[in-house]
Amino acid sequence: MNIAGRDFLKLLDFTAEEITYMLDLAADLKEKKKNGILTRWHEGKNVALIFEKTSTRTRCSFEVAAHDLGMGTTYLDPSGSQIGKKESIADTARVLSGMYEGIEYRGYGQDIVEELAKYAKVPVWNGLTNEFHPTQMLADLLTIREHFGYLKGIRFTYMGDARYNMGNSLMVACAKMGMHFTACTAEKYFPDKKLVEICEELSAESGATITLTEDVEIGAKGADVVYTDVWVSMGEPDEVWEERIKDLSPYQVNRTVMELAGEGAVFMHCLPAFHDLDTKIGREISQKFGITEMEVTNEVFESEASIVFEEAENRMHTIKAVMAATLGEGK
Ligand code: CP
Ligand code: NVA
Repeated sequence: MNIAGRDFLKLLDFTAEEITYMLDLAADLKEKKKNGILTRWHEGKNVALIFEKTSTRTRCSFEVAAHDLGMGTTYLDPSGSQIGKKESIADTARVLSGMYEGIEYRGYGQDIVEELAKYAKVPVWNGLTNEFHPTQMLADLLTIREHFGYLKGIRFTYMGDARYNMGNSLMVACAKMGMHFTACTAEKYFPDKKLVEICEELSAESGATITLTEDVEIGAKGADVVYTDVWVSMGEPDEVWEERIKDLSPYQVNRTVMELAGEGAVFMHCLPAFHDLDTKIGREISQKFGITEMEVTNEVFESEASIVFEEAENRMHTIKAVMAATLGEGK
């Protein structure tokens, strides 16, 4: 398997075998890190990390992973560069290609990261767009594989806003890896029809299934993994909160949902999560709409079934694998 020189823009661009290769490499890198074995395979290289939206996990993962691989990093924050304001994506791509061996980009439309990759002469990694969050997918797949020991046949239920980056990406990930994906939400939050069709075609090959349902009993019953994400994503206007709370409250992951899923089910979330009042936005929303929890209850978030922090750690190991592999593994 060799994916050296490739971009990592969305999971649709990779085969199940290539995804498995990246997961295996991540597992190997994780094991090495735990045993104190250094993996400075890309010593002397540098990567640029462009963030047009804020981040904790993705930024830290890229920085730690790059340093573990022996590389230097430059972080460009949402206001700290000329990108998009004084300089086009095409020009930025060509400038950065002369100084860096790889470029990470987090921002708005998927077309922007695709454009960056088109003009860059080095691998480009998607650190989240409105449409897709592919590095999160590798972390989620690794976490599920670690927990259950396999991926094929896993019954995966996503609740909440399924037509944004997380719902889209998880549906693709399940379709690629032969998992049973259910989006359980109000119809207007179902994933994009065209993407559903693509995933149905992939499922015919992989043995996956795609189910879209508004019925919580049907959606949650017997799930191995129950997954949710914030109801309002970065870059969306504050005005949508009221409608989202009204539409998506029936799809909150709570004790009833986890009981429907049954014994052995796990709870996952890409994070950050609104599960208590310990955040500024959480408190503001609480004051305005009188709710104390949103997409997941604190009880479920803090329960034994919750594997969200294992999942968060795996962001770093999987991002390291993506960089190591696309830069040429370097072993
Ligand atoms: N899950 C995730 O991408 O988190 P950050 O926004 O903190 O990077
Ligand atoms: N849907 C969320 C994911 C954050 C990791 C967002 O785009 O804000």
